[in-house]
Amino acid sequence: MEKLVIKGPTPLKGEVTINGAKNAAVAILPATLLINGSCTIENLPNISDIKISCEILEKLGAKIKWNTKNSITIDTSNLSTTTAPLDLTSKFRASYYVIGAMLGRKGEIEVGMPGGCKLGARPIDQHIKGFESLGATITTEKGTIYAKAQKLTGAPIYMDVVSVGATINVMLASVLAEGTTVIDNAAKEPHIVDVANFLNTMGADIRGAGTDVIKINGVKKLNGNATYSVVPDQIEAGTFMLAAVATKGDIVIKNCITKHLESITAKIIEVGGNVEDNIDSIHVWCDKRPHKATIKTLPYPGFPTDLQPQMGVVLSLANGNSIIHESIWDSRFQYTEELNKMGAKITAQGKTAFFEGVKKLTGSPVYSSDLRAGAALVIAGISADGITEVYNLEHIDRGYENIEEKFRKLGANIKRINE
Ligand code: EPZ
Repeated sequence: MEKLVIKGPTPLKGEVTINGAKNAAVAILPATLLINGSCTIENLPNISDIKISCEILEKLGAKIKWNTKNSITIDTSNLSTTTAPLDLTSKFRASYYVIGAMLGRKGEIEVGMPGGCKLGARPIDQHIKGFESLGATITTEKGTIYAKAQKLTGAPIYMDVVSVGATINVMLASVLAEGTTVIDNAAKEPHIVDVANFLNTMGADIRGAGTDVIKINGVKKLNGNATYSVVPDQIEAGTFMLAAVATKGDIVIKNCITKHLESITAKIIEVGGNVEDNIDSIHVWCDKRPHKATIKTLPYPGFPTDLQPQMGVVLSLANGNSIIHESIWDSRFQYTEELNKMGAKITAQGKTAFFEGVKKLTGSPVYSSDLRAGAALVIAGISADGITEVYNLEHIDRGYENIEEKFRKLGANIKRINE
């Protein structure tokens, strides 16, 4: 079993470069299934979710060539099957994008129920509602989803909840549909815009991505023969910004889009940190104990749920009592029990957690319950006195390329050990 062993406390100092966005890349890869040809994707994060996505595409008949560890050329001219490997698709959440893409390309797909981080109920009713509005029939049986369509026809679709996954999936299914699809109450996250930009680069006609109404005029085919670079990861950048505050450090975060980080910047300033916005890099530093704050997670442009645990570390060390209300997921406070083992004083009740700020955390063995919880525990370990051992690294490796290497370059005493 692997673990990260961290000796703290260390104020992080230096520069870190952000990779491409996981949640954009895991949608762009299946989106290539809509292309009858090949394309090159650059700035892919080298993480386990991407490797599994590539394996799924290869099992469907795509040919993938790795140009570098962050770039692939993918040829989806000849797909050989409409059955996605059930064992792989059930390993992570974004495998559901194969449904929208394969409905568009082949009018048919059989796929395992998506897995992914255990954050509470993760229904896909809005995805299904969208596909059905376009003319598809969706049935589920014993953990397998069967989707079929003789023909997809554009339609108006109102999303009952703001959903990243459903917005992207319906966008994928409607790119090659006949006529116009309008998605109302769409999600607006940077990765939605990135997937739309990718598809438009390949020949799609999508307008309004980044607003809550997206209009997709169906086109006859996507051409490929283009190169696309994935947008920098908003959440990875935010993770290092919050690490700078929690460790009372001073970090320049390079290759990020600071516009995507405004809600995080606002909260860092509110808790007493400093932020200098240089458009494609951001400088964050903090030389005192953070102030208390109240946080509510919201869809973009609100404070992202995927930075809630990392913010929880900052607030566990704040001067005063703080509150976090998690409005997206039912069960995203599992990390608080681990922080309490390190001396934090957090009481989580349902979707709200109360933080009684403590002066310091103390090293302890801790277990990550999901990807962002894992990142939060690493930050906690770097800011804590003594030795922290972080277990369940498979969660962290799903979404962060070389996390220990990046923190080590910032001065952290951190190493990966295989027990
Ligand atoms: C995406 O998940 C991200 N995953 C998550 O990131 C992120 O936490 C989440 O969006 C919110 O920003 C990927 O992009 C692969 P949703 P997704 O559909 O698409 C409800 C991380 O750490 N809902 O926007 O699955 C749902 O229950 C991960 O990187 C329905 O009710 O999230 C939730 O309350 C974890 N019906 C809310 O909407 C549906 O059909 C938002 O979910 C779909 C969703």
